[in-house]
This record gives sequence, C-alpha cells and structure tokens, in this order.
Amino acid sequence: KISPVNDQYERPLQDLRISIIDKCNFRCSYCMPAEIFGEDYAFLPEAELLSFDEIERMVIQFTKLGVKKLRLTGGEPLLRKDVHLLIERLAKIEGIEDIALTTNGVFLVKQAKQLKNAGLMRVNISLDALDTEVFQEMNGRKVKSAVVLKGLEAALEAGLEVKVNMVVKRGVNDQEVVKMASYCKGKKVTLRFIEFMDVGQTNGWDFSQVVTKKELYEKVSVLGELEPVERDYLGEVASKYRYKGTDVLVGFISSVSDTFCGNCTRARVSADGKLYTCLFAESGYDIRGLLRSGVTDQEIGEVISSIWRVRTDKYSEERTEETVKNRKKIEMSYIGG
Ligand code: GTP
Ligand code: 5AD
Ligand code: SF4
Ligand code: SF4
Repeated sequence: KISPVNDQYERPLQDLRISIIDKCNFRCSYCMPAEIFGEDYAFLPEAELLSFDEIERMVIQFTKLGVKKLRLTGGEPLLRKDVHLLIERLAKIEGIEDIALTTNGVFLVKQAKQLKNAGLMRVNISLDALDTEVFQEMNGRKVKSAVVLKGLEAALEAGLEVKVNMVVKRGVNDQEVVKMASYCKGKKVTLRFIEFMDVGQTNGWDFSQVVTKKELYEKVSVLGELEPVERDYLGEVASKYRYKGTDVLVGFISSVSDTFCGNCTRARVSADGKLYTCLFAESGYDIRGLLRSGVTDQEIGEVISSIWRVRTDKYSEERTEETVKNRKKIEMSYIGG
C-alpha cells in the first residue's frame, strides 16, 4: 500500500515544487545569465514538457505519499499557456492544502484574478530592486520595477497572499536592501531576502558576492526592532521576524550562512518530468518516462516512494569549495528554485 514516507534522516515528503516551463522573459544574472541563455539556447520543446494530465496524475500519487503543499515554478510559470486550468485541476486533488506560485510578476496584471478564481492561494514575486537601473541590471531584460509593482498590486487586489523575494548580490543591488524593506513594510507585504546561492553551472557564484543574513538583519534593523516569529510549517526555508508593534513580517532565506537541510521536506520535478530530491542534485529520475510507459498509478507511487526512502541529500550543509566548483548541478531555471 502507498503511504506517507520518510527519507534516511526521517524527513517526510510534504512539499512538491513543479517547474512547468524552463523559459523565462527575464535573464537574471544569478539564474539565467544572458550570455549563456542567448538567442540560440535550446529550451525544451513543447512535447517534452509534462502535460496537464500527466502533472495531475503524478500529483495524485505524491499526495498519497504525504504531499500537502504544491508550488508551481519555472522559468517563468506564467509563460505556460492556460496555467489557471492546471491550477483548477490541482486544487481539487484530495490532500492538497496549499497551492502557490513563484513568478517574476510581469503577467500578474493580466492573470491574477483568473489564477485566484482557479484556486491559487499565494504568489511569491521576485523583485530585486526598486531603482530602475539596478533592477534592469539584475533582470537582464530592461524591465522596469514599476511593471512588477503593478503585478504585485494586481495580486493583492485579486485577494492572493503575496510575498516578495529579493536575491541580494554584493556590489550589485545591496544598496537597495533598506529601500525595498521600507517599501514592503509600507505595503504590509512580507519581504524575504535570499542569500545568493551556487545553483547551476552558469552564474559564476563566489562567496564574496553573498550578503549574509546577519548583515541583512543589521541593515533592516534601522527600520525598527525585529522580533522572531514562529515558522508557519515544517521545513519553511525563511526565518521570519516581525517589526515590533506592527503586523508586518520580514524574512531571511540563509541557504549559505545558516543552512536548513535538517528539515527539508521538498521534492522537485523539472518541466520535463524528472524528479530531484535536492535543489543541488546532479541527476533526477525520469517520471515522465514512467507516465508515458503504461504502468499503473500504484506503480508510479511505489517508484516515488522508493526514491524518497533512500534520500540522503543535504547539499547546503556539505557545501565546500570543491562542491561549488566541481559538482555538475542542474540549472535554476530548469528546476525552479
Ligand atoms: P513559501 O511556501 O512561501 O515558504 O515558499 P518558498 O520560500 O519555499 O519558495 P520560493 O519559490 O519563494 O523560494 C524562495 C527561495 O528559497 C528561492 O531562492 C529558492 O531557491 C529557495 N529555496 C526554496 N526551497 C529551498 C530548499 O529546499 N533548499 C534551498 N537551498 N533553497 C530553497
Ligand atoms: N540564488 C538565490 N536565489 C535564486 N533565485 C534564482 N536563482 C537564485 C540563486 N542563484 C530565486 C529567484 C526566485 C526564486 C525561485 O529563486 O529570485 O525568487
Ligand atoms: Fe526568470 Fe526567475 Fe530565473 Fe529571473 S530568477 S531569470 S525571473 S526564472
Ligand atoms: Fe533541501 Fe537540498 Fe536545499 Fe538542503 S540544499 S534544504 S537538502 S534542497
């Protein structure tokens, strides 16, 4: 019988992040540097993406193994046609308690209402600067922050729960930290600062470019005293604080300076249907092959269960100069963060 499963460190399988497309309309330097993801970059052809039918079928098996929380990612997930139709189907699956989406926000003006009506609960919007020039340097496509801010307003208006993600790179957008915190505080939106990570092979990561949680915390403290807040769920990656005397939160995702592999409950599926048990994995298991091979639903569940049961990943805890340089990591835009 298929039932909830723990890995080798007793970590349950609770969250599933599904990348639904590997393309993006941005070229963030830390994720899809324009020099590498150029005009002739070979993105996945449509036939290689999991179909909505396949995603639904797979998610049903994941819920039997303990998954309660779903997140759609990309690339930019809203570039996939009719995402709301997928959400409508996923929201109906028994056992799913939370459905969220991570996006750069550009298409929210058009889609926020439709997504909310389909059953989407939350969006995490990436925004790395308010200043136009700094933001354009970060997103590599000359998009102005005003466009993302309009998307953010649309999401709030549609009644979606909104958080903002800001990846901080030293010497590039660290001067925007306090401005961003102040803006989000004013909007009563949770901002989460993310330490720049060595994901993928192409972003030229170097520890000197990482602004740590400790530094960020000190910078943000000029806006008011911070008090720690309990996590919302087991395996939440952000440590959160409240500006004292308000109900506004600010968070830090410190995957470099203060790792959180100990309660990592996430599985990831790439746009072409490979299952990865860590963001920094070198290889994944071909679920799409299974889905297209005529095996039963039960057999798919059993395979996923057997993969999770032997899981021992804890990359962030084991990160060394050697792994940063030599490990063949998958790209962020392919696995969705
Ligand atoms: P919530 O459900 O709102 O807590 O979302 P989330 O923070 O889990 O997801 P989001 O897509 O907003 O990711 C924020 C940042 O956390 C991104 O930079 C992710 O790459 C990073 N992140 C998410 N999960 C993990 C993880 O398991 N390990 C590591 N190292 N980083 C993660
Ligand atoms: N380090 C940290 N965060 C990253 N993201 C993308 N690439 C990196 C990286 N190298 C973030 C995006 C988005 C989330 C899914 O992951 O900004 O908010
Ligand atoms: Fe696109 Fe998000 Fe990657 Fe930026 S971080 S290039 S918005 S997928
Ligand atoms: Fe989980 Fe891997 Fe991130 Fe650690 S590095 S928290 S094991 S995804």
